[in-house]
Amino acid sequence: MRSASWYGGNDRDAFIHRAWMRRGNPDSAFEGKQPQIVIVNTASDLTPCNAHLNEVAQSVKDGIWAAGGVPLNLPMISLGETNVRPTAMLWRNMAAMATEEMIRANPVDGVVLLGGCDKTIPALLMGAASVNLPSLVIPGGPMLNGTFRGKTLGCGTDVWKFSEQVRAGNMTQEDFQSSDKSMIRSKGHCNTMGTASTMGCMAEALGMTLPGFAGTPAADSRLLEMSHNSGRRIVEMVYEDLKPSDVMTRGSFVNAIVALAGIGGSTNAVVHLLAIAGRLGVNLTLDDFDEIGSHIPLLVNLQPAGQYLMEDMFRAGGLCAVLKELEQYLDNSAINVMGKPLVESLAKAEIFDETVISRVATPIQEDAGIAVLYGNLAPSGAVIKPAAASKNLLKHRGPAVVFESIEDFHKRIDDPNLDVTEDSVLVLRGCGPMGYPGMPEVSNMAIPKKLLEKGITDLVRVCDGRMSGTAFGTVVLHVAPEAAAGGPLALIANGDIINLDVEARSISVELTDAELAARTVPENTRVGFANPARGWERLYIDHVQQANLGADLDFLIGKTGSGIPRESH
Ligand code: FES
Repeated sequence: MRSASWYGGNDRDAFIHRAWMRRGNPDSAFEGKQPQIVIVNTASDLTPCNAHLNEVAQSVKDGIWAAGGVPLNLPMISLGETNVRPTAMLWRNMAAMATEEMIRANPVDGVVLLGGCDKTIPALLMGAASVNLPSLVIPGGPMLNGTFRGKTLGCGTDVWKFSEQVRAGNMTQEDFQSSDKSMIRSKGHCNTMGTASTMGCMAEALGMTLPGFAGTPAADSRLLEMSHNSGRRIVEMVYEDLKPSDVMTRGSFVNAIVALAGIGGSTNAVVHLLAIAGRLGVNLTLDDFDEIGSHIPLLVNLQPAGQYLMEDMFRAGGLCAVLKELEQYLDNSAINVMGKPLVESLAKAEIFDETVISRVATPIQEDAGIAVLYGNLAPSGAVIKPAAASKNLLKHRGPAVVFESIEDFHKRIDDPNLDVTEDSVLVLRGCGPMGYPGMPEVSNMAIPKKLLEKGITDLVRVCDGRMSGTAFGTVVLHVAPEAAAGGPLALIANGDIINLDVEARSISVELTDAELAARTVPENTRVGFANPARGWERLYIDHVQQANLGADLDFLIGKTGSGIPRESH
């Protein structure tokens, strides 16, 4: 056991390590026979989606003891999507770094990762991948369905819908305010196919959870049963030395991309999967999402693009049923934390409600995966989720209406004199990893009030930021390079004609290279470039990579492993 280099032997240092950790634990806990399992726990009152994880951790602990391991709770930096400013994404890499360093610094043999809210599972997976000790994920699970005035409420998605209805004059402010109590009905994370639900599913498709775990509602007692069983399994994984690099191979990422398309998952998964792959040294590129995923059919009818919620997906057979239906596209060599091919775990999966999970023969939409666009507006790439877009806008040509920042957008968007029509293309810049900083979810810009009043509910929008996984619309995201890094998005002016052609995978501006070059902005006046003097933001801006590479810090790519650090005394 790795932990034996802390607890083994009879010298002064071993005495110190054992004595301070004893606290009622039996002698056997320190004799080198019981694996020390750390539960990296993102429970926090400021991350309401993860607030129940202490209860979950108790079930994991019980499972670890039952299998002969020693459980150790490690509270970890937690990122509450709705609270953390300027954006939780700014801190994803910090949480990943803290996860990595605290696992490596401690007497740990195996790792259980407890996450839920959007950034927590990606950060935990990135950190654990860089240490590469046996690890598995417990996804905290979605909330139960909410209802308001007899209708199902989707967490997140209906906020966007209701706020547009208020602006269009179709909903009273009073109803809007009172709906918030109904939206969050139970413990758990957002119950639409937003980023949290998506990343829980990605963890399972990557092979990093027990089969059938993803999507189990937070309030369902089976979540605790699965957590107990995960505690038991991680102890076995330590004896088998089954590491993240054994599980998360290129084939696992293929499976994750197939699953992402089939569930209609969040575009945020692109950035997170690229970052996780970067830690493992798996060769995964932005183009893989298009090549592997774009022709996969959409099977899951969940908000934001569809009708139902995660509780319904679980009832209808869950992720296993979706993966079983997509089996022809899966890499059958990829294994999961059971040490067996992922596809083997699907043998008994069934679809119980085809209105929620469709068959491949009758999909909700053909060719539903994420499309990757290139052109003189996005030389390093941009993404769009056709399943969440308006079909009539997937090929569109229109004049740009440019906003320098989200504050500029909020100030002007409802100005009756704003020169905007249904043909316009809204362009928002200064929202990339460096520029904001942190790449916030602001790209799904609200539709101008005067167009909403005419019944227009979607416009082509282009941005170097991200979009909430619970949002929808014809939005070109993750434009790289971002404006603040000198990308051409910084050069666009009002009235420039923007061309979007999703079928041709193209996003461009009708300007020649010479015209664009003539507009080059000096580095020190780049749009949206934040320039903090110190602290994490300084480190982040100096080292963050662009979205097409996963927005990890350049010095965190790869893994250091689980080598034992020098003694502290
Ligand atoms: Fe936590 Fe949506 S705010 S998952």
